[in-house]
Amino acid sequence: MKFSKNRALAALICAFSFILASGCFPFGAGTDAVGVSEPDREYRSPEELDSGLISVGFSQLGSESMWRSANTGSIERALTEERGYFLLFNNARQKQENQIKAIRSFISQNVDYIAFSPITEEGWTTVLMEAKQADIPVIIVDRSIDRRDEELYTCFIGEDMEMEGINAGLWLERYLDEKGRSGDEINICVLRGTRGSSAQRGRSMGFDRVLEKHPNWSIVAQEDGEFTTAKAKEAMEGIISRKLRLDVLISQNDDMTFGALEALSEAGISTGEDGDLIVISFDACKRALELVEKGVINVDIECNPDCGELLASVISRMERGESVEKCYYMEDRIFTRKNVSEYIDSRSY
Ligand code: AHR
Repeated sequence: MKFSKNRALAALICAFSFILASGCFPFGAGTDAVGVSEPDREYRSPEELDSGLISVGFSQLGSESMWRSANTGSIERALTEERGYFLLFNNARQKQENQIKAIRSFISQNVDYIAFSPITEEGWTTVLMEAKQADIPVIIVDRSIDRRDEELYTCFIGEDMEMEGINAGLWLERYLDEKGRSGDEINICVLRGTRGSSAQRGRSMGFDRVLEKHPNWSIVAQEDGEFTTAKAKEAMEGIISRKLRLDVLISQNDDMTFGALEALSEAGISTGEDGDLIVISFDACKRALELVEKGVINVDIECNPDCGELLASVISRMERGESVEKCYYMEDRIFTRKNVSEYIDSRSY
């Protein structure tokens, strides 16, 4: 069955090579929000395809953050030809329509598996039905999708974003308590990631669940930073210009935190352990962990990008005809100045 899939793939390649040569193909290499240019690897030669490898089409949502690059790297390291995989990779550059086109292209190439990291939760029903009709198992990676589409994919491997938000809220609760501030009026501003993504919705919902228990906590400003440094800097400048009294900044990823910190330092506002503003960040990339160690960021809630190995092991189980779970959550930790030092050196991203 795999052999015949690869043969069909080889025939399609000839057709697509022609399209590529004519310059009409929709997914050429390009740049996304942060200007990172990565060549896509969506097509291989007929000889490569006729090799009996397990073909996996992966649509990555973009390369907007350090976390995202680490996630891509983890998948590329796990699905190598030496390990029996044939990875077709597409970078959708922050556009759902590009992800849908890529998934359709994987379906038409009759790959063995489709995996993708969905930019937003909604809008996948039709293309997932197409994959189901083509009998291609789909694995959702990193961000989750609308629960109503659950029947249309095989399994999810990613992070529990709501739990990350809850952990942020619980950390703040403990921290304020330790500082003797649990009865104070606490003004919070939030820099949100991509609207409608499970990372944004989950972290917001989780934090709000803790906030609801504290009538003295108020979200006084909430802006979109789209998970990028540049957008977040702009958004933070806007918040600062409103001259609100702020106690806490919640920035839904590290890249946005860097932009916010720049804006805050330009405005003469200090942050962290001894600063004016408590900073809560998400992801736990090395550069941010160094700022936790320095006391500039108070806490970093990890979002673990290393799901490549789990993806490979789920696929190999399916290859052996074994059943797999519907949902696999990655393990996330919480980093503060108290525990961060022992993790920094081994951080590769
Ligand atoms: O989906 C994971 C989130 O997406 C990470 O927090 C962020 O950095 C990325 O862009």
